[in-house]
Amino acid sequence: MSAHDCSGDCPIARRAFLRDATVFAAALVAAGLAPRGAGAAPSPIRALSREAADVRYPIPAKDGVRFDDDNEVILVRSAGKVYAFALSCPHQNTALKADPAGSGGFYCTKHESRYKPSGEFISGRATRNMDRLAIRRDGNAVVVNVDKWFESDSEPTQWASAVVTV
Ligand code: FES
Repeated sequence: MSAHDCSGDCPIARRAFLRDATVFAAALVAAGLAPRGAGAAPSPIRALSREAADVRYPIPAKDGVRFDDDNEVILVRSAGKVYAFALSCPHQNTALKADPAGSGGFYCTKHESRYKPSGEFISGRATRNMDRLAIRRDGNAVVVNVDKWFESDSEPTQWASAVVTV
């Protein structure tokens, strides 16, 4: 999984796409061609540090969702579990948003897929759960490998194991 030889539909390619889109949007704002706040992503969480593909985050103190746009990670604490997800929708790479209905889950604006806080697919056009990133506990932090992800349909055991119990 660490080798990257795909042509497009994977988190690495999606991260590159989202990074390019973010740079483009920032350029539009800087040039005065887009209103500030248009399409703005939720507030990012500050990562403690990053070494190669590993990003460390403090364990969230309570249930909630944080978007780390720099690393394209969604970090979730829900019901005693911490998960890290790829920011992009597994269907066609659109950046996921917090569910506007307030469920604590996620919503894709492109084709209206909905997901639980655990990343499980609820409805919409997607065909699998949100992609989970490899995560492990290290003291009072979790370490997320942003280059190692699991897809629920092709790697169900690894996907189910990509969680830290707190
Ligand atoms: S891109 Fe998200 S449901 Fe299609």
